[in-house]
Amino acid sequence: MTAQGTDSPEHCLTHTPSRPSSAGAGAGVLTVLFSVFQPVSHETLEADVEDEGPAQAADSSNPGDGLPQYRLSEIKNHGPKSSRPWVIFEDKVYDITDWIPAHPGGEVILRAAGGSIEPYWDIFAIHKTPYVREILQQFVVGKIHPDDLEDGRPRMNDIEDPFVSDPTRDPRLRQITAKPCNAETAGEDLAEAFLTPNEVFYVRNHMWVPVIEDTAADAHGITIELPDGDVKTYTVHDLKAKFKQYSVTAVLQCSGNRRRDMTEHANKTNGLQWGPGAISCAKWEGVRLRDVLKDAGLPLDDLPEDAQHVQFSGLEAYGASIPIHSALDPRGDVLLAFKMNDLPLPRDHGFPVRVIVPGTVAARCVKWVSKIVVSDEESDTSWQRRDYKCFGPNETRDLDWDKYKSIQEMPITSAITRARKKSADGNHVEVEGYAYSGGGHEIQRVDVSLDGGKTWDQASLVDDSEQDSGSKAWSWKRWRYEGALPTTTEAAAFVVKATDDAYNTQPQCYKSIYNLRGNLATAWHRVEFDPRKEKGCADS
Ligand SMILES: *[C@@H]1O[C@H](CO)[C@@H](O)[C@H](O)[C@H]1NC(C)=O
Ligand SMILES: *[C@@H]1O[C@H](CO)[C@@H](O)[C@H](O)[C@H]1NC(C)=O
Repeated sequence: MTAQGTDSPEHCLTHTPSRPSSAGAGAGVLTVLFSVFQPVSHETLEADVEDEGPAQAADSSNPGDGLPQYRLSEIKNHGPKSSRPWVIFEDKVYDITDWIPAHPGGEVILRAAGGSIEPYWDIFAIHKTPYVREILQQFVVGKIHPDDLEDGRPRMNDIEDPFVSDPTRDPRLRQITAKPCNAETAGEDLAEAFLTPNEVFYVRNHMWVPVIEDTAADAHGITIELPDGDVKTYTVHDLKAKFKQYSVTAVLQCSGNRRRDMTEHANKTNGLQWGPGAISCAKWEGVRLRDVLKDAGLPLDDLPEDAQHVQFSGLEAYGASIPIHSALDPRGDVLLAFKMNDLPLPRDHGFPVRVIVPGTVAARCVKWVSKIVVSDEESDTSWQRRDYKCFGPNETRDLDWDKYKSIQEMPITSAITRARKKSADGNHVEVEGYAYSGGGHEIQRVDVSLDGGKTWDQASLVDDSEQDSGSKAWSWKRWRYEGALPTTTEAAAFVVKATDDAYNTQPQCYKSIYNLRGNLATAWHRVEFDPRKEKGCADS
C-alpha cells in the first residue's frame, strides 16, 4: 500500500470556517467597526471570503440622500495626516476621526484615508455584510460628486492601489498571489544552495510593503514597552552602535508550507496553496533581542510576573508574539536583524529591520518591526490568536480558536526538491531535497524510497557546516540520494521522510494530521516522477 493509495483527493467541498464573530448586540458600534477592520491574514482569504456579489448601489431610502457632495480631489485633502481623515466606501464619504483613537491598531485604516477603503476590504478579508454598512452609516458625512462617479462608484483609476510601491520580484519565484505578494521558491533554487539567494527567498506578505528610503533606514525607530509602562525608543542606528552584532543562519518556513499536498491528499484546506517552497534558509545578522530588552530595563534575572510574551508590530500593521522564554534564551539567537546573506534586508524581507526567531514559524518573525511590547498577553492580532493554529482531523467546523496554542516551534519536515535521471535509460536517478526540524533540533537521518514507500534507503546529508552558524541547529540539511529504480515498479514514486535528534519523525499520511487550516502539512513527501519517460539526455 502506498501513501497515495490511502489518501484519495477530494475536491467537491464548499465548507467555509466560522468567522470572528462581530460583537453582540450590546457591544458599541465602534468595537464592531474595529472587529470589522481587524486585518485577517491572507491565509484565510481564498476560502473565507464568501462572494456576496457586487456591493449594492446606495438605495434612495439611505440616509445618504441630501448629504453634501464632495469631489475626489477634496476628499484627498482628508488624508492620513489631516486632522479629520475621511474614507470612501462605494459612493459615500465617511469621517473616521473619532473611530481611530478608540482603537489600538486602528491607525491601519488611516492608510486608506483620503481615498477608498475598498482595496483594503480585500486585504483585510472583510465581509461586506449589510450590518457592516449600517455601522459605517454612523460616520457618513457626504456623497461623492456625480462627476467623479461611473456607474455609481468612483472610477477604479482614481482609487489608490495599496501595493503601488511594492518592489518588483524575481521571475524565478512562483507567485501564488500578487497583492499581497506571496511567492514560493522553485525546487531548483531550493536544491541549488544552502543559503537561498535573497532574490529567490520565498515571500510571505500579509499586506503591502512599507516604504522606507535607504537614507531614512538608520533613523527608523523601534519602540520598546515594558510591563511597568517604561517606554524606550531605539533607532536602527542606536541598535547598531550600541549592541554587539551576531550572525545566525536559520530557516524561515511558513506554517502553510506544503498545504497543497494536504489539500490533494486529505481534504479541502483554507489558505494559500503552497507547494514545498514556502521555506528558505539565509544568514541573518543583527543584535540580540535579549540584549536590547535588558538595556531597555527588563530585569532578566528577576523577571516580573507579567513578562510572559514579547509582542512585535510591523509598520504595515502585522503583529505577532513569542513566549518570553523564547525571546530571552541566551542560546535562542533571537535577533533584530538588519542583514540577510551579507546584504541589507531586501524590502520584501523587512527592510530596515525584522525579527528573526530561529526554529520558530516565520509568522512570528515580524518584518519592518517598529514596536516591541513585553506583556502578560499574547499579541491580540488574528495572526496570533486565530490564524496560525492547528486543529484535530475531527474538528471541521465551529473551530474553538482559544482552545489550542499558537504555532511557535516548527515540527520536523522534509521534501524532494529535484529529481533527475542519471543514466540515459532513466533507470538510475538522483533525488535531492531538504530536511528541517524546528526548535533547534538537528536532522539525524533522511530516509528515501523510490518505490512509493515499500523499501527504504538513506540519503547522504550534504555537509554545509562551513556556512552554518548559530547556537543550535537552526538551518536545514540538504540531502542527496542516487539509486536505481526497482525493476518491478510500474510508475516510480519517490518518497522522503526525516528524523531529528529527538527521534521525531514525519507522519505517513496527510489524513492523520488533516486540519481545516492546512497548517503543518508535514507528512512524507511524495513525488510521482518517472525518469524513464523523460525525453533527452541524462544529466551527467
Ligand atoms: C473533536 O473531538 C473533541 C474531543 O472529543 C471534541 O471536544 C470536539 O467536539 C470534536 N469536534 C467535532 C467537530 O466533532
Ligand atoms: C472533507 O471535509 C468535509 C467538510 O468538513 C466533510 O464533509 C467530508 O466528509 C470530508 N471528506 C473526507 C474524504 O474526509
